[in-house]
Amino acid sequence: MSKQMISDFHRFVANTSETPTALEVTRAEGVYLYTPEGKKIIDFIAGICVNNVGHSAPEVVEAVQKQAALYMHTLVYGEGVISPQVQLAGRLVELLGGKFEKVYFSNSGANAIEGALKVAKKYTGRQRLLACHNSYHGSTHGAISITGNARMKQGYGPFLPEVDFIHFNDFDDLSKIDTQTACVVIEPIQGAGGVVVPAEGYLQAVRKRCDEVGALMILDEIQTAFGRTGKFFAFEHFGFEPDILVLAKALGGGMPMGAIVSSTDILRVIQKDPVLGLISTFGGHPVCCAAGLASLEKILRDKLMERVPVLESILLEELQHPAIQELRGKGLLYAILLKDYDTCSRVLKRALKKGVLSTSFLSIDNGIRISPPLTISDDEMRWACRVLREAIEEEA
Ligand SMILES: Cc1ncc(COP(=O)(O)O)c(C=O)c1O
Repeated sequence: MSKQMISDFHRFVANTSETPTALEVTRAEGVYLYTPEGKKIIDFIAGICVNNVGHSAPEVVEAVQKQAALYMHTLVYGEGVISPQVQLAGRLVELLGGKFEKVYFSNSGANAIEGALKVAKKYTGRQRLLACHNSYHGSTHGAISITGNARMKQGYGPFLPEVDFIHFNDFDDLSKIDTQTACVVIEPIQGAGGVVVPAEGYLQAVRKRCDEVGALMILDEIQTAFGRTGKFFAFEHFGFEPDILVLAKALGGGMPMGAIVSSTDILRVIQKDPVLGLISTFGGHPVCCAAGLASLEKILRDKLMERVPVLESILLEELQHPAIQELRGKGLLYAILLKDYDTCSRVLKRALKKGVLSTSFLSIDNGIRISPPLTISDDEMRWACRVLREAIEEEA
């Protein structure tokens, strides 16, 4: 059965590399993935920051089942009243407070980024878009245009015009943000870039410069939100607020969702000239919103954020090895930097054999990702880190 499935996978599914992992999962629960052979694997990446509450959390499964039985797609986003959407939007606005008054739901991260770019252009009447080198904002045309990774863009140009890049953490580059700039799109911690943490005062300086020139600050919290760094939203660590917050990944509790959150004033631009300035057939799907709401409540009710520093200290304690060139990150979002790509590949393969799933990064060759579900126990965290360390000992 499984052999056939894997061969059909290669035959029918458009693979995104010539050597896909081809790991088959028949069941996933909590922090574990189960293969057809019954092998139990610790998920140390959480679907790249998606499964913050673990796999198939009973509350999320129940919410999905209940909503699916009531209704699934009924009305295109934004005009009709879809109660799970209203509830999730209300909860996000309540949690965020401040200038965040309205939510526009999409069905993916890239789709939300596209929306944020359009809104920024329309609101400011400007066209220049700024983003960071080493960033990743998605694979659609607009999102890849503002992604600072030349390798990912090969062969897909031309890209959006009037896009320019600044170096993350370079204060001098902030002078590039000028009165022609509609927006600066930035991650609070660069995820796919290998978990690059902002320098002291950097994000606040970006905020200040945007205010000086009237540019909008768009914060891409697609990887970092929903408790991953120890705060519900990563920007809460840094004492500033963006103008537009972009969410996805863990937002849907395992279901596909994205969102932009901003002020009433800014989001008014999508309402007229033209009407339906942002629309999406499946944006804010009721089943996804119900799952997202259940997941959000679970993070709060189970106080998952309080566990993050404890788990982080286990990680820092266990992942000490001379072959580790750098261990960088925040909360439960980390990168282990080793010598090179081949070493990382060998370590990843070895760790998977031993029962720990991790992966590499889009934009750097010598990194291994750590972003487990926030529900991981101390013992599981310690065990998985030890497995990685052993794999490093054996392969690096
Ligand atoms: C920071 C960041 N922005 C945007 C995206 C794109 O999200 P999606 O894959 O849902 O389109 C990703 C995906 O990895 C991401 O990490």
